[in-house]
Amino acid sequence: MVNAFTYIDNQLYAEHVPARVLAEQYGTPLYIYSRAALIDAYQSYADACTGRRAKIHFAVKANSNLAVLSVFARLGAGFDIVSGGELTRVLAAGGKPNDIVFSGVGKSIAEMRMMLDMGGRCFNVESRAELAQLSRVAGESGRIAPISLRVNPDVDAKTHQYISTGLKSTKFGIAFDDARTTYRAALDMKYLRITGIDCHIGSQITEISPYLDAIDKILELVVQLESDGALIHHIDIGGGLGIRYDTETPPDIGTFVKTILDHFDQRGHSHREIWFEPGRSLVGNAGILLTRVEYLKPGAVKNFAIVDAAMNDLIRPAMYGAYHAIDAVTPRDDSQPLVTYDIVGPVCESGDWLARDRPLILESGDLLAIRSVGAYGFSSSSNYNSRPRAAELLVDDTRVHVARQRETLTQLMDGESALPHYIK
Ligand code: LLP
Repeated sequence: MVNAFTYIDNQLYAEHVPARVLAEQYGTPLYIYSRAALIDAYQSYADACTGRRAKIHFAVKANSNLAVLSVFARLGAGFDIVSGGELTRVLAAGGKPNDIVFSGVGKSIAEMRMMLDMGGRCFNVESRAELAQLSRVAGESGRIAPISLRVNPDVDAKTHQYISTGLKSTKFGIAFDDARTTYRAALDMKYLRITGIDCHIGSQITEISPYLDAIDKILELVVQLESDGALIHHIDIGGGLGIRYDTETPPDIGTFVKTILDHFDQRGHSHREIWFEPGRSLVGNAGILLTRVEYLKPGAVKNFAIVDAAMNDLIRPAMYGAYHAIDAVTPRDDSQPLVTYDIVGPVCESGDWLARDRPLILESGDLLAIRSVGAYGFSSSSNYNSRPRAAELLVDDTRVHVARQRETLTQLMDGESALPHYIK
């Protein structure tokens, strides 16, 4: 795998551009993505699918920046979306309607219409109520909605409870035991056309076995569905492949994809078209977040390095206790003693931390790089504490593309208005 963020002469580079120069020019906090790393990850999926009927749909929620989406669109990727906003972004980035799959438990009528009008590839339907609503909306629009049902295979993905979605206890998908009757109901709905079946068991999964268990259950169902008269053209196994943040050892993309495809072959289903919906494994390690140390604050029990990035820029540590590696952009002379710091932001919450107990040699003004933030970094950032969102850059060799300008203070108030004088 390409590591696009490496040291040359004690300086961290983003591809062939010194990170320090980017921080000086564009300010911090600053997200930086590597085009080469994005392409490399996508190509690993595509290469492992060579000779097979398979499609990779990038899960847009992981990183919805237009520049990132356009890299994937140009490579011929499909897209997995969960909102009208993501749909609009994919089209703006050059994605083709026929490559778009619409997932999510709560599609609105307006979103269903958008997808139908545009000619999207497939709705992944998650409940009986949604099925009925989609059929009605399709009928009113004079269209037939292509669908698959997201079935909850009730397997344990062995990941963080907030990102485990394949168990009975989560809100996702149609219960395995109800799947057959729900497909039968769909067969009777005039404005729906069944095209496949879908499942997604969680995120940051580091073992292949939960996928194989899920596939076995799905295949059992597929045989029954076809005997009921449903045509299952594709099987979508969702996303979820984990990446290395710290010491995790997920399978590499090629091994993961080949093991899955081989499993379909061994079960006698090599003729199926297989879809993947990866997010994190395509973008996670293709991004870093640069932040500057504002103050060092030694304490009785802890030392804090207060930096200019915060939980609004990167929510993963606060939300999941997630680990992100942190490195100095220009490491200081290592003859000085290491000091253990918690890296925290300026937001007024004790939960506003980015890293804990990191041995570093720091001075105020130093630049740090927070690694593996390409997935669910900027895309889940917010304006909490009225902090403008960071800028995003995409680096291509020595070229720098401003993928998103830093938000301004005035933009923060767009659409708002203070009370008029006639309201007391
Ligand atoms: N497909 C569906 C239906 C999904 O819900 C998701 C992610 C994916 C695909 C992509 O999964 P991935 O390959 O990225 O694991 N904010 C959390 C992750 C939430 C994942 C939500 N669903 C985090 O920062 O870890």
